[in-house]
Amino acid sequence: MKNVVEIYDREAASYDQRYVKPIHIVEDRIIADMINARYTEGDHVFDIGCGTGHVITITDIPKEDYAGFDISPGMVEVARKKFPGHVFKIVDVRDIGWNLGSAPNLMLAVFGQANYLGLEYFVHALNRMPETKFLAVLYSGIDNPDCEYTKEYQTIYSPEEIRASFSTIGRSVSISGLSHPHHGISDPDELFKDQISKLEDLNESKYFIIRG
Ligand SMILES: C[S@@+](CC[C@H](N)C(=O)[O-])C[C@H]1O[C@@H](n2cnc3c(N)ncnc32)[C@H](O)[C@@H]1O
Repeated sequence: MKNVVEIYDREAASYDQRYVKPIHIVEDRIIADMINARYTEGDHVFDIGCGTGHVITITDIPKEDYAGFDISPGMVEVARKKFPGHVFKIVDVRDIGWNLGSAPNLMLAVFGQANYLGLEYFVHALNRMPETKFLAVLYSGIDNPDCEYTKEYQTIYSPEEIRASFSTIGRSVSISGLSHPHHGISDPDELFKDQISKLEDLNESKYFIIRG
């Protein structure tokens, strides 16, 4: 993990600027709607691989209900500057025992976290929290300039492998395919409709959104 830490520490100051194109705004809107639909006021939310606190920016989760965890001190430093009232912890989430006094009600792993950790680990953690809702956004393995710079640290899973992995702990998941290649659409509302219409199609999508 040392190298992932080095990469994200280096990227931290400019990380937010990478993701400001219309397609990123549309991806965020789709993910935010799904997270908000899973969140209930008073839920205890764990955001693993929280980075610079992107989930806080895009969702309605208040600081009282939120805790962010990230292995990169640089990313957490940016998050703390942006959101001084929120709780963030610098930790390799694989070192969390998950024998927690009170489990989170909702676990978020947005943009690649399960690819870095390995799905097996992610599933193992969730197995300790059978009541915990979750939403994860995984890289699908399709060429994606947005995550190219950490490619060698990602493990890529097919939808079949994802389903099989969760079935080992008796949990069924819904998988959506986010962000198909698009051509010539510049209006974010049109782009949003276009992308929403393709969520069921897992082929050629840049990300898989897993909900359970
Ligand atoms: C692509 S960024 C996503 C950040 C944020 N969730 C977002 O949506 O912008 C992936 C984050 O996962 C963190 N990460 C990778 N492996 C980790 C681990 N084992 N424990 C904690 N954080 C980790 C990285 O430091 C990085 O901040």
